[in-house]
Order: sequence, then C-alpha cells, then structure tokens
Amino acid sequence: MSTERHVLVTAGPTREAIDPVRFLSNESSGRMGFAIAEAAVKAGHRATLIAGPVDLPTPKGVERVDVVSARDMLAALEEHFPGADALYMAAAVADYRPAQRHTQKWKVKESGADSVSLELVRNPDLVKTIARTKGERRVIAFALETSDGERRALAKLQAKGADWIVLNDPSALGAGRTTVTILGADGSRQHFEDRTKAQVAESLIALLGT
Ligand code: CTP
Repeated sequence: MSTERHVLVTAGPTREAIDPVRFLSNESSGRMGFAIAEAAVKAGHRATLIAGPVDLPTPKGVERVDVVSARDMLAALEEHFPGADALYMAAAVADYRPAQRHTQKWKVKESGADSVSLELVRNPDLVKTIARTKGERRVIAFALETSDGERRALAKLQAKGADWIVLNDPSALGAGRTTVTILGADGSRQHFEDRTKAQVAESLIALLGT
C-alpha cells in the first residue's frame, strides 16, 4: 500500500488571446497529462489536473481546474502547488503572448496593409517559477526535442530546477504510443520504448516511490 500523495498535473495547450475571437495556441492534445492524473488516482493518490482548452473527459476521481492562458495557469499553480506533494508539468505552455489584447475584434484589413506584424511578449516560465518554491516537493518537467535530445533535456532540467525531465520522442505527437527517456537531477536515466501513454504515466507516478 503506497502513501497517499497530492499530485498536481498540468495538461494541454494554453491559448493567448489576440482579440475576443482570435488566439495563438498549439496542437497539444492534453492526453499525456490526463493519463498521468488518471494513473495517480489508480495508484491511490489524490490528483488535481490544471487543464488548458482540450476536448477530453475528466478521468474518474480527478479534480479538474480549467484555464485558458499561460498566466491563468500560473495563477492556478500558485493556488494549488502549496498543498501538493508533486507537480507534473505536462502542459505545452505558449512561450509568448500578444503584447496587446484588442478588446474589440481587431479590424486588421481596415489599414489596407498587405503585411502586418503582431508583437509578442514572453510569458513567464511556469515550471521554473514554481520550482523555486518547491522545497521537498517533487517537480517533473517535460521536453520535446528533435535533435540532440538528451543534452538539451538535461540543460532544461537544470535551468528549470526540476527533479526529473521527461524527454518525449517527436514521433509521439498525436500518437497513441510513445517513447520517452526520464532523466533525473540525481543522474538517473530510464528509457521506455514504444509504450502506451497509460504505461508511461504509471512509470512517471512510480517516480514518487511508495
Ligand atoms: N514550460 C513552462 N512555462 C513556459 C514554457 C514551458 O512551464 N512558459 C514547461 C512545460 O510545461 C514543460 C517544459 O517547460 O514542462 C518545456 O520546456 P521548454 O523549454 O519551454 O520547452 P519548449 O517550449 O518546447 O522549448 P524550446 O522551444 O526551447 O524547444
């Protein structure tokens, strides 16, 4: 019987508004994060899932908090992380957002210009911000790299102050099965080839020990 922990998971993309009907976002499905929250509950833990805009049902027994933008996600993390034992930062957070959110529809064609620019400003690095306050809590970050994966992932692990980083193979995008390498700040390395997301989620929850 494992000790019950409170596991916090982020999942899905964030959406950064341009005006009331347009936004910048990405293709994240949220499936890995949802699978982690589900695996946490199955292992006897309490799970809170902070989800960006995704079209997925809430796994049984999981508490869900819906957010839209990166800054909303940060506010939800600041509210829920203090009461958690571990954070799995699986969300694909937008690195930049429009500098200005138009309150009315942006009538971009009215200027008659053939090209327009959208100024973007950097979003905070959520996992890095939150990991600064982690103390004994466990923080697991994610990385998707197309070249020199392990070296880049290890650099991110250190820069973000996480305990582990989960390096995803790009072939996993949108696929049911996935290949991941889990790299630890303690030098540990576990490689899982061609597993279902549920199997990977179970291995990720096992990092917390019993
Ligand atoms: N992340 C975050 N806040 C951001 C951006 C990313 O917390 N503003 C988190 C993600 O949830 C993930 C990890 O950081 O756990 C991904 O690292 P990052 O370097 O941001 O990944 P990419 O944006 O994919 O980086 P790059 O564009 O440099 O490949």
